[in-house]
Amino acid sequence: MSVIKSLYDTMPDGREVYLFKIENNNGIYVELLTRGATLNAFVCPDRDGKMGDILAGFDTLAGHLATTTYAGEIIGQYANRLCDGKFTLGGREYNVTKNENGVTCLHGGDEYNSALWKAIITDDNAVEFAYHSPDGEQGFPGNVDITVQYVLTDRNELEIRYCATTDKDTIVNFTNHAYFNLGGTANGDVLDTVLQLNCDSFTPTDARSIPTGEIRPVEGTAFDFREGKPIGRDIGDDDEQLRQCRGYDHNFCINGEAGKLRLAAKAKSEKSGRKLEVWTDLPGVQLYTGNFLDGSEIGKGGIPLGKHYGFCLETQYYPDTPNHPDFPPCTLKAGETFKSVTIFKV
Ligand code: BGC
Repeated sequence: MSVIKSLYDTMPDGREVYLFKIENNNGIYVELLTRGATLNAFVCPDRDGKMGDILAGFDTLAGHLATTTYAGEIIGQYANRLCDGKFTLGGREYNVTKNENGVTCLHGGDEYNSALWKAIITDDNAVEFAYHSPDGEQGFPGNVDITVQYVLTDRNELEIRYCATTDKDTIVNFTNHAYFNLGGTANGDVLDTVLQLNCDSFTPTDARSIPTGEIRPVEGTAFDFREGKPIGRDIGDDDEQLRQCRGYDHNFCINGEAGKLRLAAKAKSEKSGRKLEVWTDLPGVQLYTGNFLDGSEIGKGGIPLGKHYGFCLETQYYPDTPNHPDFPPCTLKAGETFKSVTIFKV
């Protein structure tokens, strides 16, 4: 096991961005960046032992700074959307940034994911990133202090451990927005990757991608991944939910009890033989199939990131939870500590 720190690049304003490489005893490694506490690379073998990076993303800081994909970034304070950029907490209405078409708040208004995080090596296989979000940042209440620890084990698990505190009651929803492409450097779409979701239901959305409040069984729909199927098999179905999002961009409700670590998803590329498992204690997972990638951003290896060149499994509270009293609550009370873990196992 080893962790190596190096200077990655310098921001336009002169601040330095560092890269941490954690390698386990099987030669599998991850790269992490202080900018956005980003998971930059996850390199593991295919069925013939050939190493390849299973994350679609960027080779340069310029690529990371220019992208609107959130590739590999840690998202806060509220991942996914808040309807009309509003919520009520403790009888008070809060208005947060409406950074998506001036209508919705998407991914908390880009504060956490574009910040330079402090980082320390906490073990020979672990790096901890820290960020302080001041009271009122993007409209969210509370001084929030968050740490995100990445730990790579010899069982080939990348654990992402979130820990946060606040001095005022607030809402939290943190995720990692990695795009997986199990083929190796993303040079094709992921439609033939076989995905299995441990989810009996999902939360349909309106045209703004805001949950309607319904929790719909996946049974008999294109959203039924319970037995495992290629991502692309039903993606073109004549289904209003798929049409309005140009593919999958939906929160699935993970079976089992939230708060307990359980399997959310499994994926396998038949071509490369690479596999991925996702475990989490959170209630939901957003399956986003890179529907808005259009080849205009140049990814790793100089390859344009085309439609469906990666899939995201963003573990999370359901989108727009504060405006849906029936969804599992995402409130963090003053003085309490939020803890959550998500594992990507290859
Ligand atoms: C959202 C998509 C959005 C994407 C941004 C996902 O989490 O659900 O709607 O386009 O992030 O890259």
